[in-house]
Amino acid sequence: MNNKFIVFEGIDGSGKTTQSKLLSEKIKGKYTCEPTNGEIGKLIRKVLSGKKLRKSCGLAHSSLRSKCEKETLALLFAADRVEHVVDIEQNLKKSHIVCDRYIYSSMVYESIQGIELDFIMNINKFAKKPDVLIFLDVDIEESFKRMGGRSKEIFENKDTLEKVKKKYYEIIEKRLFEPKYGYIVVDTTNKDIDEVHDEIMEELREKGIIK
Ligand code: TYD
Repeated sequence: MNNKFIVFEGIDGSGKTTQSKLLSEKIKGKYTCEPTNGEIGKLIRKVLSGKKLRKSCGLAHSSLRSKCEKETLALLFAADRVEHVVDIEQNLKKSHIVCDRYIYSSMVYESIQGIELDFIMNINKFAKKPDVLIFLDVDIEESFKRMGGRSKEIFENKDTLEKVKKKYYEIIEKRLFEPKYGYIVVDTTNKDIDEVHDEIMEELREKGIIK
């Protein structure tokens, strides 16, 4: 099969969503993201936004909390991904898939909260290996500026962004869950959308991933 499964990762404000949508248009692929827009994905977004969850069991303490246990969230991300991978496999028969965040986000965000990487990898054992991971880096100050008026999720403060960035580089250096064609790192600091897009296209061509 010639269609490629391309994953974008990066810290918040690195331009992942813009660039992944742009790339999928350019290569006539399909854009998708995690958390997904499915029911599990929606639940995850609710937790991340800090909104109250509906009472789901009889215990008063859990019904009053706006955030769930980090392990629960990790399992939700993994469950969302199990469903997502089924859709990805199906759609890869027809076109390239460009995915905005994937298992690497779990490896980064869940592990900086103190969850063991082994546990994360175990619950994600159904994750399909992508063909390539494109990591968009950005200076933390610029990332903060770019996020501007956006609503702040629980992960968006400078300290956390630094930790997130370090973890991504650790994954790349240690070649964890290494994609077939490896990793592409693009520093987006002080670059405009087109410049970054051109750089991505060039790297993908160089690796023979696209024509
Ligand atoms: P997303 O909505 O893509 O945020 P953004 O557009 O700012 O990139 O992702 C929501 C948050 O979910 C993001 O802060 C990272 C986090 N996340 C995890 O913690 N684990 C995961 O497995 C995934 C996919 C995302």
